[in-house]
Amino acid sequence: MTAPVSAAKRDRVIIFDTTMRDGEQSPGASMSYDEKLELAKILEEMGVDVIEAGFPIASNGDFEAVRAISQIVTESTVCGLARAAAVDIDRCAEAIRPAKRGRIHTFISTSPQHRDYILKLSQDEVLEAVVQSVTRARNLCDDVEWSAQDATRTEPDFLYRCVDAAIRAGARTINLPDTVGYSFPEEYAAMFRNVILNVPDSDKAIFSAHCHNDLGLAVANSIAAVQGGARQVECAINGIGERAGNAALEEIVMALKVRGETLGFDSDVDPVHITRASRYVSAITGFPVQFNKAIVGKNAFAHESGIHQDGMLKNAETYEIMRPEDVGQGATNLVMGKHSGRHAFREKLKALGYDLGQNALNEAFVRFKELADKKKHVFDDDLIALVDDALARGSERIRVVHLRVVAGTEGQSAELTLSVDDVEKKAEASGDGPVDAVFNAIHEIVPHAAALRLFQVHAVTEGTDAQAQVSVRLEEDGRIATGQAADTDTLTASAKAYVNALNNLFSRKEKGKPDTAIASGF
Ligand code: KIV
Ligand code: ZN
Repeated sequence: MTAPVSAAKRDRVIIFDTTMRDGEQSPGASMSYDEKLELAKILEEMGVDVIEAGFPIASNGDFEAVRAISQIVTESTVCGLARAAAVDIDRCAEAIRPAKRGRIHTFISTSPQHRDYILKLSQDEVLEAVVQSVTRARNLCDDVEWSAQDATRTEPDFLYRCVDAAIRAGARTINLPDTVGYSFPEEYAAMFRNVILNVPDSDKAIFSAHCHNDLGLAVANSIAAVQGGARQVECAINGIGERAGNAALEEIVMALKVRGETLGFDSDVDPVHITRASRYVSAITGFPVQFNKAIVGKNAFAHESGIHQDGMLKNAETYEIMRPEDVGQGATNLVMGKHSGRHAFREKLKALGYDLGQNALNEAFVRFKELADKKKHVFDDDLIALVDDALARGSERIRVVHLRVVAGTEGQSAELTLSVDDVEKKAEASGDGPVDAVFNAIHEIVPHAAALRLFQVHAVTEGTDAQAQVSVRLEEDGRIATGQAADTDTLTASAKAYVNALNNLFSRKEKGKPDTAIASGF
């Protein structure tokens, strides 16, 4: 057994968040410009070291988001992704230029599977691209990260040559991803040890882990990588990402906190913001968090069986290795009513992790009063839904003004008034169910070709007067936009969520084209 390491002596692991880049690559996940800016603020407040804000060459929308995040974030490093192509690297450099601390993250695949079938390049050609891409990136930015995509399936000797070349060309961080989620923890740790041992200048770079969760091992592999010498971990809130996702940020951070004594490592992330970040990402992507998800699941701190409850009442340490409040999960309690004042409201939001500006606070307070009029008990979760709903709203070219729905055994119809660019327009429609009728009415007022890809309703709290939080995902020409809204009336929430998704879709159309294939290299 290794000797316990005191808190002061623990080495720091750099937390690199890729929720907005790899996370957004989750099938169906998509975040609007405003949502990304808001998420960047949350991540910075949490103390995340590096925020990978997007893939600037992928679309104008991605470029604009990375640039805007570079303008507002001052504490964290803002990073953009670029393939080993001049056009990617130049675009990325332009996007991160305003950042106080900017990073270009460039990558190329190194494994035989990717070299032969995707790149159709020999080992020497890949090596040449590594040198050229890192050199180009270093001429544009001091902080360059290089990734060997599919590192875990790469021939070790070739991997050493690539890493050596990248470090000599000026990469400060070397990321060795388990792109296909294939590794076992011991193998992944050994890969880091071997690379560090076999590359002469390995001490000139920080090594980084980036794990996918195809075998459910992403977090275990990331921790093993740290034990093998990695000092940066790439992860995403709620573990979202390509296929089965990335290592979950909240799990990595809490593993370092709870087992820091054994591991000898910690991070600078303040876990108290974790629950808020998780809820926000879930709301904007429309990806629910599974009830039993570690750290942020609804049941993560719930004790059901009599034996467990008895133990908890005697001493929480019997069944709890961390406290819910450590990760910002306050016990959901009765908080505010319609007589609560503005000051108490602001303090409550602060306790929940929101520090709103005066205008946003005033607006939220009005909405809180409206909610308190409709709903007897206003819980923390209600307030979180209310504020997240407002933060996620973004552009409001289209707004719901009035909705009346007739439902029941005799058929369903909706009477709807929308404000479109400040002009009120009305429609009446029927449908197969009340939600269908509402959506048909929206379609009549705002004709569009987008297909509905997700419609999801979730009750924010318990009870029949609970607010419904609705997520809607639309897709048009490969562009995906998600909208969400909360309301005590499920149909109003549905209409607002659909309209929110349409607004996001339209603002995406204005801001950028969808992905373009870039064939050119050096
Ligand atoms: O999984 C992966 O290999 C990646 C790289 C682009 C870093 O996401
Ligand atoms: Zn990845």
